[in-house]
Parts: sequence; C-alpha cells; structure tokens
Amino acid sequence: MEIRSHADNDALSQAAARLFQVQLTANPGLVVGLPTGGTPLGFYRQVVERQLDLSHSTAFNLDEYVGLSPDHPQSYASYMRENLLRHLPVGAWHIPNGQAADLEAECQRYEAAISAAGGLDLVFLGIGHNGHIGFNEPGTPLDARTRVVRLTETTRAANARFFPSPAEVPTQAISMGIKTILSARQVVLLASGRGKAEALLAAVTGPVTPAVPASALQTHPNVVVLVDAAAARLLPVA
Ligand code: GLP
Repeated sequence: MEIRSHADNDALSQAAARLFQVQLTANPGLVVGLPTGGTPLGFYRQVVERQLDLSHSTAFNLDEYVGLSPDHPQSYASYMRENLLRHLPVGAWHIPNGQAADLEAECQRYEAAISAAGGLDLVFLGIGHNGHIGFNEPGTPLDARTRVVRLTETTRAANARFFPSPAEVPTQAISMGIKTILSARQVVLLASGRGKAEALLAAVTGPVTPAVPASALQTHPNVVVLVDAAAARLLPVA
C-alpha cells in the first residue's frame, strides 16, 4: 500500500483526479469502478472541472441500495447523474439494479458485465466508519463477489443524513464483493476527515480480517491510499 498524504479533501480530490487523468491518457478505454458518499464529491467536481475524457471508458458503480428506483433522489444512480453523468459523457455506465425482481440474478449479471468489459482496471473507493468498502460490512467474507448485503445500523445511521428520515434508509444493498474489488488492477482508496481515522488506521496497519473489510486491500499489489491530514491523524509518522 502506498499512502499519499494531502492537506485536506480539496488537495486529496485534486490528486485523485490527476491520477485518473494519467490513467485515462494511457488507456482511454479504461474500465473503472466508482464510489459514492460524501468523500468523493470533491473528486467528481475535479473530474468535471478538468473535463476528463471518459467518452471511451466504461464505469461500474460499486453499489446501489435495494428497493430505491434509479430516480429516487437518494439512489446512487441519482448521485452519479447529479455529480458526474449530467456533466460529462461516459462511454458506458453500469450500476446494480436495486429494484430487480430477482436480486441474486442481478448480482450475477453485474459480475458477468464486469468480466465482459475485460475486468476492472482501476477502482476508486471510500471507506466507512466501520472500515467498510463499497457496502461490504464487517464480517463480509474476503472472497465474496457481487451480492446482496444487509446494512449495519452504524452504516444506516451514517447515511441517514442524506435521507428525509433515518427510517427511510434502506436496509439492504447490492455491492461488489471484496474479491470483485481486489480483482481490479489498481485500487485507489480515498479517506478524508477525522471520523475516518480509526478505520483507516485499522485498514492499513491492523491485521487482514473480515472485521475490517478495507484491511483486505493490504493483500493487493497495487493500492494507493490518498488521505487528508484529518484522516491520517492516527497513522504512525513515516
Ligand atoms: C457508503 C458507500 C461507501 C462509502 C461510504 C463512506 O456507505 N456505500 O462506498 O465509502 O458510504 O461515505 P462517506 O464518504 O460519505 O463517509
């Protein structure tokens, strides 16, 4: 894991966008995994500001809530339209269908679509307060592929800020599994803010354990961790 420290979310977002730009220049047909949440908002702003050329690339979102229609304002489909897709043409864009009649079949279809695209070249990730990546909550087997997951109450509470009331936060999601994420050729983890310090510390210095899903990234040969000073406050100084 290569940890790169930045002053704040703004600097971290610029670094992430620069890294994306370099990869897109080398391979315009990049297959990229994309996150949601508060952390990557600055990253998407930078991607849009720089008008990165995603017109030949293929994007797969990490996850989607079960039960929300793509038009629901809090669906991750809406998030992506609002923060990226309405600003920039993307060659092909995929997100799990959280309203599929057969959710298991939808997970298999999603996994097959990633394989058909040639696999993920690059995945950007955020990290949850409990160390989750995508929606892979603590306890997730490290060899899991895309599947239906039950959200922990901690995660539902953390995401309640985006919903009119906490009760409206879905209880399930479809998420790429840890193994799907680890199959990417490169992984870029974005960690920003004081609230992520404990999770980040456990992810990068603790044992590799299903209790901290992000710790599985230690087993990947090409991971860049972009941190801001607040998230890095507990990390040992190099
Ligand atoms: C959600 C998403 C994750 C994201 C996490 C942290 O649970 N499924 O992909 O990393 O939130 O989000 P935030 O950046 O808002 O703290």
